Amino acid sequence: MFIHVTTLTDYLAEHHTTPAVKSVIATITHACEEISELLKRGALADILGEVGNQNVQGEEQKKLDVIANDLLLNALTTNKYCAGVASEELDNSTPANPNGEVLVLFDPLDGSSNIDINMAVGTIFSILPYKNQGVTATDNDFLQKGTEQLASGYVLYGTSTILTLTTGEGVVMFTYDPNLHQFILIQEDVKISPDTKEYAINASNYRYWLPPMQRYIDECNAGETGVRGKDFNMRWIAAMVGDVHRILIRGGIFTYPFDTKFANKAGKLRLMYEANPMSFIIEQAGGESTDAVNRILDIEPTNIHQRVPVVLGAKNEVEYVKKLHEEMQ
Ligand code: F6P
Repeated sequence: MFIHVTTLTDYLAEHHTTPAVKSVIATITHACEEISELLKRGALADILGEVGNQNVQGEEQKKLDVIANDLLLNALTTNKYCAGVASEELDNSTPANPNGEVLVLFDPLDGSSNIDINMAVGTIFSILPYKNQGVTATDNDFLQKGTEQLASGYVLYGTSTILTLTTGEGVVMFTYDPNLHQFILIQEDVKISPDTKEYAINASNYRYWLPPMQRYIDECNAGETGVRGKDFNMRWIAAMVGDVHRILIRGGIFTYPFDTKFANKAGKLRLMYEANPMSFIIEQAGGESTDAVNRILDIEPTNIHQRVPVVLGAKNEVEYVKKLHEEMQ
């Protein structure tokens, strides 16, 4: 029996993105196919363990962080449409073709503490317009609000490899077929339910949170007999890609809130490599994404590596967290 499938290439051909965006998405996903193959081979591909360096974020670099970063960087800087690339792993952006039309930002291996334990990790990317054509791109060119994004997505390397993508026309998901070497469309028009009974947070940081966040989690944990009048479930994958993916599939709220653990950081997650691309996807799926007060996509970036608190997912639940922050200011 012949079964018609829609590949990523078919999908992009039918949608109203520019040739530059289509081409850059194809380049990113090809690199992700290679990352997926390496992950499947694990220790056999000598990708586990640390390289002994710290990245720009002050975190130990895993071997695969470096490999994934190099694969994406090399592929993108040779794509004629790409004017520059910024990676969570590198201090500064890398210029590419000054006549390119887009800039690409990526987190090559999100949740990299999961690599060595054979759990879910991912690649996150964000595509911005290049507004200074003819001139070599610098870090400043990347400092655009999340609302400017032309496309964003993530590839989740889990039990299967899944690409979730938005070009501003809703959210679509593809599963990678290793036999066909193609991403195949599995779901269109992904939507998040506005209500939920499931939250995701690293609860070990409780003592560092602000009072409204402590109150929110206390209320969830009080369950049916508390003010929320329902029992909540908790999940934490320790890779944002995994938690966001779960929310897109079965709902929920995810937060890495403001905390006082590191006085010089507003939160743990990075605005440009994690919060913005995921917020674009979440909003396109009908959810909401804020820093507990303001919409993430409206934040004016001042530094390509800046961090931001994140509260995203089910609309009504995110609104409730915002309300607690407003009331308890
Ligand atoms: O940004 C890195 C990241 O790995 C996210 O993907 C994830 O949500 C979070 O950090 C996990 O943090 P923790 O190690 O505090 O659980």
